[in-house]
Amino acid sequence: MIAASWPRWPRTLFARLAVILFVGLALAQTLSFWLTMTERDQTMTNVMMGYIEREVASSVALLDHLPPDERAQWLPRLARRSYEFVLGPGVSGEPVDASLSERVARSIDVGIGNRYPLTVNAVPGDRERLQVHLKLSDGTPLTIDMRPMSGAPLSRWLLLVLLLQLVVLAACCWLAVRLATRPLHQLALAADTLGPDLKADRLPEDGPSEVARAARAFNAMQDRIATYMTERMQILAAISHDLQTPITRMRLRVDVMDDDAQGAKLRQDLQEMETLVKEGVTYARTMHGTTEVPCRIDPDALFDSLVFDYLDAGQDVSLEGRFGMSVTTRPQALRRIVGNLVDNALKFGGAAEIRITAVHDGQTTISVLDRGPGIPAQALEAVFEPFYRVETSRNRHTGGTGLGLAIARQLALAMDATLTLQNRAGGGLEARLTLRKLL
Ligand SMILES: Nc1ncnc2c1ncn2[C@@H]1O[C@H](COP(=O)(O)OP(=O)(O)OP(=O)(O)O)[C@@H](O)[C@H]1O
Ligand SMILES: [Mg+2]
Repeated sequence: MIAASWPRWPRTLFARLAVILFVGLALAQTLSFWLTMTERDQTMTNVMMGYIEREVASSVALLDHLPPDERAQWLPRLARRSYEFVLGPGVSGEPVDASLSERVARSIDVGIGNRYPLTVNAVPGDRERLQVHLKLSDGTPLTIDMRPMSGAPLSRWLLLVLLLQLVVLAACCWLAVRLATRPLHQLALAADTLGPDLKADRLPEDGPSEVARAARAFNAMQDRIATYMTERMQILAAISHDLQTPITRMRLRVDVMDDDAQGAKLRQDLQEMETLVKEGVTYARTMHGTTEVPCRIDPDALFDSLVFDYLDAGQDVSLEGRFGMSVTTRPQALRRIVGNLVDNALKFGGAAEIRITAVHDGQTTISVLDRGPGIPAQALEAVFEPFYRVETSRNRHTGGTGLGLAIARQLALAMDATLTLQNRAGGGLEARLTLRKLL
């Protein structure tokens, strides 16, 4: 499996861009460094060859002119970094095969070859080494012992500079990639916070032109959605308002009808119509966002009064647990959410139990529990959709519009709370509202 042995391509755009940029730039950098070094080595070698050619020629001429007994003391002065002169026949060996040695031998040959017949051989050892043998005019054997060096050694600071370059490169890549991906991150954040109340912060429309353009488009989209939502709400409100009059008129007509049995049925239908219209408007309003401003309240008092209202109406609602402190929240929305959940528990389970629990990180959960039939697992999310009702609950006894949970969830979202449903062990449903940031 070749694919498995390859490192995985990073998932974030940030990492991908950073890798491409950094690897690309580092490769280009390495290549140009290598080119410079090769070029430098070649130039150095060329210069060295010319130098050897001239220096060796003049040294040999000098030694040749010196009286034989003075030659030995001149030898150290004529020695250079890559070669020295030895009086004597030297050692013999194989012919040279390394290219650098060949070039050196050729340079010497060009310099003095026409005056002194030369023999050249390599000297075995760890380093490249060769010896050039010749005879001075008085017949004294002379050996040039050479250790050719290719180029100059690298200075230590060069490595440091290289490292520094890499660091600067990495920093620039990081900066560039961050600059390119940050607007995306901000856009995603803005789209995320564009909650049901459509009150997300506007994106700043400055910065590079592409970013500014995306921000403008996003802001315009936000405005358009807000306009649509307002229109929708207004239409619903208008319909409900205009329906009130005919409904009232119909009710008056029903009241003066002779047929009591039919009248009662019609009255019930009218009642349902009224509820539907009212709930529809409420839903539209919550979709548009509650205008309710958060305020500091005593949540325990709120829950006490809520439960008391139900008990007063002869319903089986109990309360367990307390907040024990005042909090900043939207009391009407909270009351409405819990009210809708309790209504469901009563309607489908006959009794409701409210349980308040403080959990970690300052979160508080408010659970509304019942022992009713629960909701089939596959419908647990769907019931939050407006007008969605589980098939079995479509009867007159449990009749409703199917908006209760949709409204509750919209309100919860607007309060930065989460609302979830789950079936309880032993039957029944638990609706759990988790409040965050209770200060
Ligand atoms: N506690 C519960 N037990 C069993 N089923 C439930 C419970 N709560 C909600 N449901 C199911 O979820 C559906 C949607 O609930 P929702 O509150 O949105 O509408 P509704 O109660 O039918 O009508 P409305 O609340 O608008 O009067 C219900 O019709 C019911 O099938
Ligand atoms: Mg309901």
